[in-house]
Amino acid sequence: MVSDIGGELDLTGLRRVYGRPGHRLFYALVCRNARHWGWTEPGQSKWRCWQAQRRLEAVLGRKLALPPGSRVLDAGAGSGVVARRLAGRLGLRITGVDVLDFHVREARRLSALAALEERTTFSWGDFHELDYPDGSFDGVYSMETLCHSYDPARALAEFHRLLRPGGRLVLLGPVGFPAAEVPADKRALLEPYLDAMTMVGAKRYDTRSLGGLITDAGFRIEEELDASSYYRPTTEALYAYFRIPYAVLRRFGATEQWLALRSTVEMYALRDHIAWLVHTAVKP
Ligand SMILES: C[S@@+](CC[C@H](N)C(=O)[O-])C[C@H]1O[C@@H](n2cnc3c(N)ncnc32)[C@H](O)[C@@H]1O
Repeated sequence: MVSDIGGELDLTGLRRVYGRPGHRLFYALVCRNARHWGWTEPGQSKWRCWQAQRRLEAVLGRKLALPPGSRVLDAGAGSGVVARRLAGRLGLRITGVDVLDFHVREARRLSALAALEERTTFSWGDFHELDYPDGSFDGVYSMETLCHSYDPARALAEFHRLLRPGGRLVLLGPVGFPAAEVPADKRALLEPYLDAMTMVGAKRYDTRSLGGLITDAGFRIEEELDASSYYRPTTEALYAYFRIPYAVLRRFGATEQWLALRSTVEMYALRDHIAWLVHTAVKP
């Protein structure tokens, strides 16, 4: 279902999700500061999550398919892991924006440590409304951030405005199946999960409607890849690692502090009702 209702930034909700010490510790230790899923092909090990994450970043680089020196917007950069990878490996010049000040600070600090300050810059910004002039970028990507969008149509329109003609957009992330196709017991699990994670965007589009939102914003879709089979091994590995710790935390009612664990365990229960899609599109 596509909703045309706008909304506003829920900074308190996002701070609650990403700011809790337990959540930050999880990302630092398990994901080496990346805040996204991973990519595993047949024959590759799923157990080292950070390696799967690096492979996913390499997939993003291939889909962007831009030459070194290209200017690229990272919409929702988190601590800048993806930006540094693309800058370091492909020579792209990445501008990362995020609405969480502590993510922006962390991204700058880690880029300084990696001596990548010249090719990666980070600032506070809401990707629905940025200050950069029209056509500022050769590429834009959203690595698992559109799910947080309070108005996905507006975010896509902003990406379109910021790209030069011929500029490339890559969107990666989990997308739910249409509500009518999800059994009631799974929906009852999904909706509180999306609310707890401030994933308001994920309620505004689904596997059937997201492509239409992208074309309505003026893009030509080059590829819509259902990459679920490449993502699923990471969900399996995280579930295997954290199923029991999460059950113990639940017993003591301490799950609020550990939303990332909730995410790994509950997403697994919903795995047959979510697809991981990679959209590659061009601004004509
Ligand atoms: C799942 S994390 C992904 C971070 C990063 N892309 C990565 O893969 O490590 C989602 C990020 O989007 C950011 N975010 C959410 N809504 C945003 C908005 N309206 N504008 C900019 N950033 C936003 C969050 O603060 C968070 O850092």
